[in-house]
Amino acid sequence: MNKSEKKIAILSGAGISAESGLSTFRDNDGLWEKYDLNDVATIDAWHKNPELVLSFYDARRAQVLKANPNKAHYALAELENHFNVEIITQNIDDLHERSGSSNVLHLHGEILKGRSILNDIHLYPVSGDIKLGDLTPDGHQMRPHVVWFGEAVPRMTDAEVLVRECDILIVVGTSLNVYPAAGLRYACSDQCEKFLVDPSDFQLSGQQFEHFQGSATEKIPELVNKLIQDYKSP
Ligand code: APR
Repeated sequence: MNKSEKKIAILSGAGISAESGLSTFRDNDGLWEKYDLNDVATIDAWHKNPELVLSFYDARRAQVLKANPNKAHYALAELENHFNVEIITQNIDDLHERSGSSNVLHLHGEILKGRSILNDIHLYPVSGDIKLGDLTPDGHQMRPHVVWFGEAVPRMTDAEVLVRECDILIVVGTSLNVYPAAGLRYACSDQCEKFLVDPSDFQLSGQQFEHFQGSATEKIPELVNKLIQDYKSP
């Protein structure tokens, strides 16, 4: 099967993993309805109560390990057989990778990796809990490899290049509340074909997005089939 030369960039958020059983953040039952993000997801929270922060991410890691990719993840992996696909995710789970996607850029880190509190030069696989006293080889406390609010987003420039170069942009399962990730959509060209997959009816001002309104497991396979049909070579 010959592959289209078209480049597809996908910006995904917590909504694509919702049907795998992982909570989103800002829906009614979202994580930020249960926790104050200032207690668990900022560098100040870490200095104030590192054990609370570690236990918050230990719980999320355990949930990710129990979760499985869903039809939306697998449909995006299938897309790679037809197009050049780059996934830019705000999610810290590994469901895109486990469903077979090859090019996954994690803007906000990865829950199954740990790093020194000093820097993110070295990453270490983590499948259990991280406790106070767990040290990285450099002798410093290990922390989850997750970008906290107020911290830099190291992969942002790489992500902007991928969106700038894409012919098709798919935004799926994100409320686009958190910058700089939410600003990525503006990096795409005017000619770029843009799609939004989300059950809510929020509008993306200033740009023409075709809205596949519904859940990711319902609408991503539909959109993938459409793109394959639209661009299949005669
Ligand atoms: N299918 C598709 N989209 C869904 C589904 C579903 N089944 N269920 C919910 N959604 C949509 C919601 O309508 C909402 O637009 O997913 C989006 C979830 O938004 P948020 O909870 O804000 O998640 P996200 O946009 O990924 O948050 C961004 O905020 O707290 C930080 O670092 C965290 O990466 C996260 C960032």
